[in-house]
Amino acid sequence: MPHPKTLLSLSTLSLLFSITIIIAADDGPVFAATEDAAVMSKLLKSLSPPPSDWSSTTPFCQWDGIKCDSSNRVTTISLASRSLTGTLPSDLNSLSQLTSLSLQNNAISGPIPSLANLSALKTAFLGRNNFTSVPSASFAGLTDLQTLSLSDNPNLSPWTLPTELTQSTNLITLELGTARLTGQLPESFFDKFPGLQSVRLSYNNLTGALPNSLAASAIENLWLNNQDNGLSGTIDVLSNMTQLAQVWLHKNQFTGPIPDLSQCSNLFDLQLRDNQLTGPVPNSLMGLTSLQNVSLDNNELQGPFPAFGKGVKVTLDGINSFCKDTPGPCDARVMVLLHIAGAFGYPIKFAGSWKGNDPCQGWSFVVCDSGRKIITVNLAKQGLQGTISPAFANLTDLRSLYLNGNNLTGSIPESLTTLTQLETLEVSDNNLSGEVPKFPPKVKLLTAGNVLLGQTTGSGGGAGGKTTPSAGSTPEGSHGESGNGSSLTPGWIAGIVIIVLFFVAVVLFVSCKCYAKRRHGKFSRVANPVNGNGNVKLDVISVSNGYSGAPSELQSQSSGDHSELHVFDGGNSTMSILVLRQVTGNFSEDNILGRGGFGVVYKGELQDGTKIAVKRMESVAMGNKGLNEFQAEITVLSKVRHRHLVALLGHCINGNERLLVYEYMPQGTLTQHLFEWRELGYTPLTWKQRVIVALDVARGVEYLHSLAQQSFIHRDLKPSNILLGDDMRAKVADFGLVKNAPDGKYSVETRLAGTFGYLAPEYAATGRVTTKVDVYAFGVVLMELITGRRALDDSLPDERSHLVTWFRRVLINKENIPKAIDQTLNPDEETMESIYKVSELAGHCTAREPNQRPDMGHAVNVLVPMVEQWKPTSRHEDDGHDSEPHMSLPQVLQRWQANEGTSTIFNDMSLSQTQSSINSKTYGFADSFDSLDCR
Ligand SMILES: *[C@@H]1O[C@H](CO)[C@@H](O)[C@H](O)[C@H]1NC(C)=O
Ligand SMILES: *[C@@H]1O[C@H](CO)[C@@H](O)[C@H](O)[C@H]1NC(C)=O
Ligand SMILES: *[C@@H]1O[C@H](CO)[C@@H](O)[C@H](O)[C@H]1NC(C)=O
Repeated sequence: MPHPKTLLSLSTLSLLFSITIIIAADDGPVFAATEDAAVMSKLLKSLSPPPSDWSSTTPFCQWDGIKCDSSNRVTTISLASRSLTGTLPSDLNSLSQLTSLSLQNNAISGPIPSLANLSALKTAFLGRNNFTSVPSASFAGLTDLQTLSLSDNPNLSPWTLPTELTQSTNLITLELGTARLTGQLPESFFDKFPGLQSVRLSYNNLTGALPNSLAASAIENLWLNNQDNGLSGTIDVLSNMTQLAQVWLHKNQFTGPIPDLSQCSNLFDLQLRDNQLTGPVPNSLMGLTSLQNVSLDNNELQGPFPAFGKGVKVTLDGINSFCKDTPGPCDARVMVLLHIAGAFGYPIKFAGSWKGNDPCQGWSFVVCDSGRKIITVNLAKQGLQGTISPAFANLTDLRSLYLNGNNLTGSIPESLTTLTQLETLEVSDNNLSGEVPKFPPKVKLLTAGNVLLGQTTGSGGGAGGKTTPSAGSTPEGSHGESGNGSSLTPGWIAGIVIIVLFFVAVVLFVSCKCYAKRRHGKFSRVANPVNGNGNVKLDVISVSNGYSGAPSELQSQSSGDHSELHVFDGGNSTMSILVLRQVTGNFSEDNILGRGGFGVVYKGELQDGTKIAVKRMESVAMGNKGLNEFQAEITVLSKVRHRHLVALLGHCINGNERLLVYEYMPQGTLTQHLFEWRELGYTPLTWKQRVIVALDVARGVEYLHSLAQQSFIHRDLKPSNILLGDDMRAKVADFGLVKNAPDGKYSVETRLAGTFGYLAPEYAATGRVTTKVDVYAFGVVLMELITGRRALDDSLPDERSHLVTWFRRVLINKENIPKAIDQTLNPDEETMESIYKVSELAGHCTAREPNQRPDMGHAVNVLVPMVEQWKPTSRHEDDGHDSEPHMSLPQVLQRWQANEGTSTIFNDMSLSQTQSSINSKTYGFADSFDSLDCR
């Protein structure tokens, strides 16, 4: 029989025991609910303002947005879109019964609290807030999690994809767009979630390649678009992701060809624009019946212009390298060379320079004879990988083929032995294997430096043993004995001569360097290119950054020197002042197109009838520094090619005078058509025309903002900088004010430039420049298009003179809009709908806070569907920018510059030079060029 004292202590023990159990099991009504109460009370204090009916005197289970289970444990927090600010308590994860957390679309700041070990949590919506950081391992142990959304938290400090999420094997939706993610996509991650359907990681700074583990996922919606520096590598893994429905990879740095997506039978939306994809658009893609929307613009795609089925929305604006700009087969030689490039994985350097439908028109690595037959292909030391295509055998006139010094594998194709004209075949220093086919004796075959290549046979000429890998760039393949060889040599020389003459002619015509001293140059010399050798000089600033001093001391090279071709490829073209004088009628008043802050613009006409616009400006004391900057900027600007940006064709420096040569836009400025149409006798723009103009401008500016590694900011977007062509399509001009923002942070302190009425508030107040400054100005332009009123109109009463202020007030009530629109529009119901949408966009773009403004890509996306609905199915006039049959010399020049592409420029030295000079010192042309006096 137990002692009473023992009894007591036993019962105490059991009581203690049961308490312990209650705490451990965490479902006792008293203790755990108290714990939730503590967190909820902290939440009440940390949110500001807290939701209206929250109060410490009512039980938290009755608070608006809170749901509890029968034990008074919080299961749901639902506070989306309540305009909440403040922070969240760091021990939020004590709410261990929480299954649903919805705090999206507020302005909550501070760190995201750790959610670790909330094993009941199924959905977590934290997007569209101002959270500042994500503590590490915040998402560990979320074994039930199905949805995690943190998108649109632009103020997070950079973090990496949370690998602890792999414990959430039930994950279905992962949204971390615009959340400052950096780093690479982990090699093993996406294969850990068998049910993962939707992955949105857009607008971050993810880099590196797509991991192969994507192939083992079931992802249907994959959004990886708009990474700051761009994801890279190929997109081959897509071909194994057979569940794909929607794929957004635009605005990255992906390379290589579009893979075979024929297994992706649910794919309806494929956004690949603004990458560096090469190779032809696969037929399997064009035949994919599920496909509805596809964008391919601004890549380096090659081969036939793609033809998709009816009903497929395709965008192909911007740059690509198709052989023609309408569907139809390419020249047979083009297809052969494409096959050859395909065996190397379609290297970007081929795509960049192989444009148009005629390989004899300046394609690099390819030499033709006078009869337009390809006689030499020289791919020595190009860092090529892959194999030697048997299609070389289709170049039946080939005499010399140099493939040495690469990393090629596979065998030497037997088909090459059928090349009857072949004299030299150089494949040394690769990693070739297999048997060496038997070539006729006249073929000089160089195979040294291929460890695995069979040493058998070799009876032909000088096989295997010879080690002369030096044949390199001067093919003197005429060591063959047959009469064949001697008869072909002159043709070969003729080819070279023709090419050289062609280059000389082009170079002379368009890219003469200015003459500081007039007596050196005469019109007759300029007009007669054959005499003009002495006139031709090319700046090499893009190669050498070491020059200094007056313009006349700029390093230059005469056109006679073969190496100038490389310099020319650099894309920097200077023009002769004499030519510019001549074509503008000695800068005659009659030819004035307009006057801007930075100088006077003259119209000019080249001998072949091509019209140009010459902007003439002078700096009083620019000094070497200013000159360097000018030159550096020109180097970059002359590379910028987009169908909605006015092309800078060349420039000229003459003493203190600077001249910029632009393409001519026959319909003048948007200002004229929007505000001055009565005086000028134009018909007012229709709504369609206005929306198309808006889209064109949005695309041009979007392109500036997204140029490869860095962002350019226009800073002075306004109707007088929007020029129109005869088709009333618009191009943005005067991006001479652009500044490139440093990596990551799109913001630079700068002296104010721009125009009142279009200045974003934060820019006017602080001088801080981001791409959002242009978005604001774009919003103002939209308002002008809608209302037909100027951004600033002093003739109106004060409360209406500032368009943005006034129109934003109008926008508060949709019913006001019809009264505010341009009287000439006279819209029907459908048009009015469209006007509402554009008005809304205008309001969005002019939001007071820069981070509330969309980016230009959003504006494009809003406007595209409106324009699409009006578009005739044919896209002919739309794409007339690449392969005109008879291009004028400036056009050829322009094309060469375009061919150089936006991708390569960013690798050469001129860029860092530009970047540092522009970043380190701010200059506005407005300050530097104030008087004009061109001697
Ligand atoms: C090369 O020639 C062969 C035989 O004439 C032909 O079948 C093949 O299609 C050609 N290849 C290309 C890429 O033109
Ligand atoms: C050469 O190719 C073989 C396969 O054909 C490969 O195993 C080897 O690593 C390659 N060598 C080099 C140096 O690339
Ligand atoms: C395709 O694009 C159009 C306009 O760009 C858009 O309206 C439509 O919703 C898109 N369709 C799909 C399936 O994404």
